[in-house]
Amino acid sequence: MTYALKTYMKDKVELINSQLEQFIYAMQIPERLQASMLYSVRAGGKRIRPILMLAASEAYGEQDNRAMSVACAIEMIHTYSLIHDDLPSMDDDDIRRGQPTNHKQFDEATAILAGDGLLTTAFYTISNNDSLSDNEKAYLVKELAKASGPEGMVAGQMLDMEGENRTLTLEELESIHRRKTGELLRFSAVAGAFIGGANAQQLEEIETYAKYLGLLFQIQDDILDVIGDEHHIGKPVGSDQTNHKSTYPQLLGLDGAIEQKEHYALKAKQALEKAGVDSSYLEDIIDYISNRNK
Ligand code: IPE
Ligand code: IPE
Ligand code: MG
Ligand code: MG
Ligand code: MG
Repeated sequence: MTYALKTYMKDKVELINSQLEQFIYAMQIPERLQASMLYSVRAGGKRIRPILMLAASEAYGEQDNRAMSVACAIEMIHTYSLIHDDLPSMDDDDIRRGQPTNHKQFDEATAILAGDGLLTTAFYTISNNDSLSDNEKAYLVKELAKASGPEGMVAGQMLDMEGENRTLTLEELESIHRRKTGELLRFSAVAGAFIGGANAQQLEEIETYAKYLGLLFQIQDDILDVIGDEHHIGKPVGSDQTNHKSTYPQLLGLDGAIEQKEHYALKAKQALEKAGVDSSYLEDIIDYISNRNK
């Protein structure tokens, strides 16, 4: 990772973390539910979706930090998706972000409700932000619902579950990746660019850039599930094999998966070149996502 991106990410993570906590603290939530929501939010995580959103908004000239509440909203949705993804009825994992998963630390019912709480708080947080116009809020709420809902991330999770115990074709696998992982990353970049004032053509190019980022992200996630270091990635290695999931490394071999990643990284870069921004952070993020080791 470049030194510039590393410093940028470190600064943003601090801001995002403190804002996220403030949003949750500001609400009247039963104690155990609040503790459970805060537990998963505080467990860490790379915050790549909110960072991507902030970087995209700044790339198009946003200077007033108006993307921050939306950035926190996307992280709430992502964190909820992880809590539910780890449940016994889904991937049945015990470690997340280096700590016991939410249902292990609390209990299944609390974990389900903490997920529900984070999901709904995301939409409240955007609607409650007075620095966004009503038109902007309506667009962002609609697009976030689409990206995270039953046509987006939730669809991907459903198809991922249905794909267990059978060998998927590469096309099927890619279509699952696009939804389960790609959609939230797509929204992050497009929403950021929208808040920054990108025009319709620029939004389209940023969307293409982010779609490739999403594929890159999940291929690397699948690779790390095979060759990652459990302490480093903060979640169990080998979960996909235990759950009989089709993955890129499984379908193409490790070398094939790495080659596929390089192809998508190039596509992302080409789209970014057409997007009419001079943002080295957006470019550095391609390489970071592709080569991350956690
Ligand atoms: C993990 O996401 C789930 C996937 C979509 C592959 P991240 O790798 O972004 O997880 P955190 O937020 O850093 O823990
Ligand atoms: C999950 O993908 C993506 C989500 C929508 C949560 P994985 O099941 O591969 O994510 P990890 O490996 O548990 O983080
Ligand atoms: Mg899963
Ligand atoms: Mg999982
Ligand atoms: Mg995984």
